[in-house]
Parts: sequence; C-alpha cells; structure tokens
Amino acid sequence: MTTLPSSLSQPKSAPGPVGLINGLRNLRAFQTDILGFLTRIAREHGDFTQFDFGPFRMYFANHPDLIHQVLVEDATKYHKTRLTKALLRPSLGEGLLISDGELWKRQRKLIQPAFHAARIAAYAETMTAYAERAIAEWQPGQTRSVDHDMMSLTLDIVIKTLFGEQLTPQERDDIGRAVDIGQKQVGQAFKTIFRAPSWLPTPARREGEWATQAINAVIARFIARYRQTGQDRGDLLSMMLAAVDEAGGMSDAQARDEAFTLIVAGHETTANTLTWAWYLLSQHPQAEAALHAELDAVLGGRAPAFDDLPRLPFTEAVVKETLRLYPAAYVTSREPQEDVRIGDYLVPKGSTVLISPYVTHHDTRWFNAPEQFKPERWLGDLEKRLPKFAYFPFGGGPRICIGNAFALMEARLILATIAQRFRLALAPGHRVTLDPLVTLRPKGGMRMVVQAR
Ligand code: HEM
Repeated sequence: MTTLPSSLSQPKSAPGPVGLINGLRNLRAFQTDILGFLTRIAREHGDFTQFDFGPFRMYFANHPDLIHQVLVEDATKYHKTRLTKALLRPSLGEGLLISDGELWKRQRKLIQPAFHAARIAAYAETMTAYAERAIAEWQPGQTRSVDHDMMSLTLDIVIKTLFGEQLTPQERDDIGRAVDIGQKQVGQAFKTIFRAPSWLPTPARREGEWATQAINAVIARFIARYRQTGQDRGDLLSMMLAAVDEAGGMSDAQARDEAFTLIVAGHETTANTLTWAWYLLSQHPQAEAALHAELDAVLGGRAPAFDDLPRLPFTEAVVKETLRLYPAAYVTSREPQEDVRIGDYLVPKGSTVLISPYVTHHDTRWFNAPEQFKPERWLGDLEKRLPKFAYFPFGGGPRICIGNAFALMEARLILATIAQRFRLALAPGHRVTLDPLVTLRPKGGMRMVVQAR
C-alpha cells in the first residue's frame, strides 16, 4: 500500500465516483443492490474509496489495516453516525448500540458482567432446553418458515437468559411483527436521502410507533414485576434496575433503552445466522454429512452441553463460515469527530466512513474461492494467518459486539441440538435472495421441509 509511513506522506484524495451525476447513479445503485454496489466500488477503486450518495459524501474503508485503524487505533476519534442515530433513536433511545462518549463507556461497564465467560456458560442449558422444546412439535414432512422458528427461539432465549422472564404467545408475535416493521422501515430509510419530517403522521410512522410501543409494553411488564416482588434474580434486568436505584446509577429511561437494545440486537442477528446456516447446509450435502458425523460421534444422540463445545469443531466451522458468507451486520459506519487520516487519506470531521464485513469477507485476497461455502477452511490455522479484520462479523475494538461469545455459543448449541434430530431441505420452488435491511435477511423468509434423520 504505502511506501512512507502514512504520517509522513502528504494526504491524498481517495479515488471513487464523486460529482453530481455519479452521486445520482450511486444513489440508484445503492437502492437497488447495496451489496453489489459496495462490492463493485471496493473492487474497482481499492482499499479506500469515496463516493457521492446524492448530495452526501461517503468514505469506504476496505483494507483490514484501515478497518483496524478506524475501529481500534483511532476508535476514540469516532462516534456512531448522525444518520444511524436519527433512524434508530426513536426505538433504541440512548441504548448501547448507538450511545457514545461517557454515557456509552459507563453503560458498557455496567452491562458487561452479564456477558462474562462464566455467566455465559450458565446460559447453555437454557439454550439447549429451549431448542429441544421448539422442535418437539416438528413433524417430518412439514414445511416450516425456518426464519420465524429461529426468531422465536432466539427471542425466547434472550428473554430468559438476560431478563429471567417468559413471553406470552401474544407478546412473542408482537415482538416478531415489531422487529419486521423496524427492519423494513429503518432498512429503507438508510437507502433514501429524503424523509418525511418527523412530525408528519404518515401510516408508516404510525406503524413504527406501534412497533416501538409493542416492545416497550413487554419491557414495562418485566420492570413492573421486578418492582412488585423486589426480587433480584441475578439476571441482567435485575442488575440494571438495581443500578437505577443507586445514586449516579441508571435512569429508568436508560434501563428501558438498554433492555430494548439487548432484546432486539440479542436475537435477530443470531436467528438470521442460523437461518442462513440451515439454507447453506441444505445446499451442501457433504458439509451436512460432516456435521452429522461429528454430532453422532461426539454426542451420540444426547443433548449438547457447554463442555461438549470444544469437541465440536466442525459445528463451530459451520457457524463461522455462515457468518463469513452472510454476516448479519453486513455494514457499519462511523463519523469522525475531528479531521482524521485513514491510511494516506484525509477524512473531514462529520463525514460518514463505511466498513463492510460482507465486502471484506468476500475478498479473494483473504479467502480462497470466497463465494463457496467451505466450513472446513476454518479447521486449520486460517484464523491465525488472516490479517486482523479480514474476518470480523462482530466488529472490533471497544465497540465490538457485547454478545459475541453469547451468540457463537447459542448458534452452535442450537445447530447441534436440531441437526441431531432433523435435516432441513429447501421447500420446492422457494427462491432464496438476499434482503439487506438493517441486518442481512433472506427475502421472503426461508421455507424448508423437515426431514427426520
Ligand atoms: C450472530 C449474532 C450477532 C452478530 C453478527 C452481531 C454483530 C454485531 C456487530 C458487527 C456489532 C458492532 C457494530 C458496530 O461496530 O457498529 C455489534 C454490536 C452490538 N451487539 Fe451484536 N451481534 C450478534 C449478536 C448479539 C447478541 C446475542 C447480543 C446481545 C445479547 C448483541 C448485542 C450487541 C450490542 C448491545 C452491541 C453494541 C455494543 C457497543 O457498541 O458497545 N449482539 N453486534
């Protein structure tokens, strides 16, 4: 890349399609196929590019070293972008995903203990038991919406493990619908530059408000119950509400924002990952057979436990490879709070810097045959050989996903529990395409036929 240390060379202007006409073209391409557009920009213009998006200038970092610089080395110089906050604040408030500065630091410290290794290990039993309960009603020959099944399952798990609660069937449906509405609305809004003013009561806005209210109502029920019984059940919600009651702890509103963030971020991404895993396995019989062979040899039909995980390397490889091909958080962004230098390029304060795990994970410089599903690539020392930030489905640096280890454990346990009993085949005629909204979902869901093993 550079011959001089970048601090000594003169800053350059990044290559890429800028200007009025390009800006309009980019906008259109972004709206019709965001992943295709970002991939093309990266491949055509290199490790660091700029492009106009309507009237806005975007920067796009595509090299692991530059991504490292933004997410790790210079992390304190960046905030989440104003656009991300404007779109997510009506639902997530000042929750961990979009807060910044001192507030973020304090909240992350408060919430982190719920994700410590020992705590997470204690969640394993719930994860497996809930997976078994979910498939108890599955019958061979049934065609199921596996995306919905995975959403309900991971939602129940996050509610039980972090909040010590159970949802009513109505609440589960409401949250499912609310998350669908949020995905559609925020996903669309990310791709547009003109939005109706926030005071205009459009039907979409009313629907969005219903969605936020639906999740708030569930959180309010949890909080009311805690207050009534005053019982600390050792879960994250109890801990947050105990902090509410301490001087300088957390406000009630802040506890709601964090609960909302954790409920949504804590199930949707893992459910998508599992949905993609079932799809990929259905298309790759050899990988599926290798997974079954490992499960049969190690578990022999019994439910997986936390201690089994180190002996299930292929199961782990399936999860890793799924997250490589279809990283649920396929793009993220940062806004520099001062003029910054990224590699050789000067990026002005207040601009948007994009980073895309999806684009990097499909780069031939880091992955051989990147479009192919090959879980076995993770069985050797690939991870050690890869540059840091060639593979980063959970982001990195101080803002790395707080649920990283939780999600990896959950995905492996669910996969192992279900794949011991059933195979899932794509329903005849079901076409699978990508629907990159806030997260990377399959368009029209995932209809699959249950087969006994
Ligand atoms: C496969 C599943 C998951 C994926 C792919 C994923 C991905 C990510 C990524 C890429 C980020 C960083 C975003 C950025 O840098 O802008 C993030 C942040 C976050 N994730 Fe996850 N996540 C997953 C599961 C979870 C789970 C299970 C939880 C909670 C139970 C969770 C809660 C959060 C929170 C609260 C943040 C914000 C952290 C902060 O900024 O301090 N995620 N996630």
